[in-house]
Amino acid sequence: MADYMELVKETILMILSIIYYWLKAIVLTFVPTSLQAKDISGETVLITGAGCGIGRLMSVRFAKLGCRLVLWDIDPKGNEETARQCKAEGASARTYTVDLSKREDIYRVAGEVKQDIGDVDILVNNAGIVSGNKFLKISDSMIQKTFEVNTLAHFWTCKAFLPAMVERNHGHVVNIASSAGLLGVNGLCDYCASKFGAVGFDESLRFEMEMQGKDGVHTTVVCPFYISTGMFAGCKTRVPWLLPILKPDFAANRIVDAVLCNQKMIILPRSLYFFMGLKGIIPTKVLSILCLYFGASNSMDEFKGRDGKQD
Ligand SMILES: NC(=O)c1ccc[n+]([C@@H]2O[C@H](COP(=O)([O-])OP(=O)(O)OC[C@H]3O[C@@H](n4cnc5c(N)ncnc54)[C@H](O)[C@@H]3O)[C@@H](O)[C@H]2O)c1
Repeated sequence: MADYMELVKETILMILSIIYYWLKAIVLTFVPTSLQAKDISGETVLITGAGCGIGRLMSVRFAKLGCRLVLWDIDPKGNEETARQCKAEGASARTYTVDLSKREDIYRVAGEVKQDIGDVDILVNNAGIVSGNKFLKISDSMIQKTFEVNTLAHFWTCKAFLPAMVERNHGHVVNIASSAGLLGVNGLCDYCASKFGAVGFDESLRFEMEMQGKDGVHTTVVCPFYISTGMFAGCKTRVPWLLPILKPDFAANRIVDAVLCNQKMIILPRSLYFFMGLKGIIPTKVLSILCLYFGASNSMDEFKGRDGKQD
């Protein structure tokens, strides 16, 4: 009887919590970012893939917010340009050349960062690559590299910087995944699988932090549709009014806003929340029909990418 009463009590508490957090989420949707934003001035932000695209744009936005930037990229020239733009905003910015497909390189450079600067407060796992080929045309080495950069690198950077966050109960891990990490896409087997991995990593890490009571260590997973940075050059959308190709500035600003508000997951554009919810309840054949109708299944047909298709 006592067990039964305990279960009833737990169930009532659970229902009340669900109602509370659901209402809170709805209310916060309408509260401007400026009213919810945490103060991150003076914090150290490490961004991987900072040498171009949204990595550069997020770096500059963090610089404007008064952060100290640690910029990682395989391309030193692009990275230096990002540092120049951050410094122009009055921020301190240090560049490190690192190949994120190599675990030893990540650990070596992480050690340098800890010696030069100290702990990292916000870690943005942003660097990503895409082959853009059909599965049977992608070389084994390219598949491996895609996972190394898009998924495994997140594990190694977190192994390097998360322990200090956990110890201080202060920090934020941002994993830039993709809407392709929530829905498989024709022509993106390796990329989608690697991004599903990144989404799973983030979600599990979030539960781990919650269950350890580390309420000061936040995570944000980012799942955007195509962004016009050049990475997915040539990709098309059939319904731009519903699923627009995102502007890099818009995407970068929305991601930083989400970090400021400790938002756990952000999907861009908003219309995709509806599609992702739908995916869980419709038959798979209906999903195929919708993907074809809305153009997702042909979106990669004219893919060129930043450097053309990589075989
Ligand atoms: N562009 C899009 O349409 C889109 C859509 C959804 C998600 N994303 C994701 O957003 C993130 C940023 O995308 P973007 O469009 O800005 O990409 P981008 O190609 O413009 O920039 C990627 C950066 O990562 C760096 N990089 C690549 N391989 C590296 C390696 N091995 N080591 C270190 N640095 C490396 C590149 O030099 C570059 O500076 C990626 O994770 C991408 O998968 C992009």
